[in-house]
Amino acid sequence: AYTAEPFVPARADLAALSEAAAGCRGCPLHRDATQTVFGAGSADARVMLVGEQPGDQEDRRGRPFVGPAGKLLDRALAEAGIDPEEAYVTNAVKHFKFTRSGPHGRRIHKAPTLRETRACGPWLAAELALVEPELIVLLGATAGKALLGPSFRVTEVRGTVLEEEIHGRPERLVPTVHPSSVLRAEDREGAYRGLVSDLKVAARALT
Ligand code: URA
Ligand code: SF4
Repeated sequence: AYTAEPFVPARADLAALSEAAAGCRGCPLHRDATQTVFGAGSADARVMLVGEQPGDQEDRRGRPFVGPAGKLLDRALAEAGIDPEEAYVTNAVKHFKFTRSGPHGRRIHKAPTLRETRACGPWLAAELALVEPELIVLLGATAGKALLGPSFRVTEVRGTVLEEEIHGRPERLVPTVHPSSVLRAEDREGAYRGLVSDLKVAARALT
């Protein structure tokens, strides 16, 4: 099976983890992507945000949530009362998966499979063990499935505080939609309000 496991160093800090992740070959996604996009933020962060995978701009710049979805997320977090600068931000999958389309071969995001998400899981587990956040915000279905299993359905649990044991530790999690889904929504304002309202549940759970 694909797995990042042999690439994850034992007893590493975040900087060492990130450096090791740059060389991960745990699944085929490293082949076409530009670079590994590891999580960013302080090991002291109280909240960890988990997205799906880097997008086009994240892949080029090497940092999570720096593209359009990230801008929207930062705005929604600030509006909900969570300082984006104080959050640890990462993705379930650390390499950009895409297909090329159109005359210019534009790179179009493709959802990672469950196998790829599972393969990348050891990185997320290592980040969780080091940051030990008080709260995890799950941004969309891929993040939810990565930490809570394949039966996770975002519409059933969004905007609620879940208490689940993950890798042997009790965790509190607030699921919500992925910020990219807000950008694609027909009723964008309504979808944005929904995201902010879920993030307010997370903000309250942090006080
Ligand atoms: N979408 C994600 O899930 N993560 C990013 O880093 C950017 C867009
Ligand atoms: Fe490794 Fe994850 Fe990249 Fe696959 S997606 S190569 S498991 S870092």
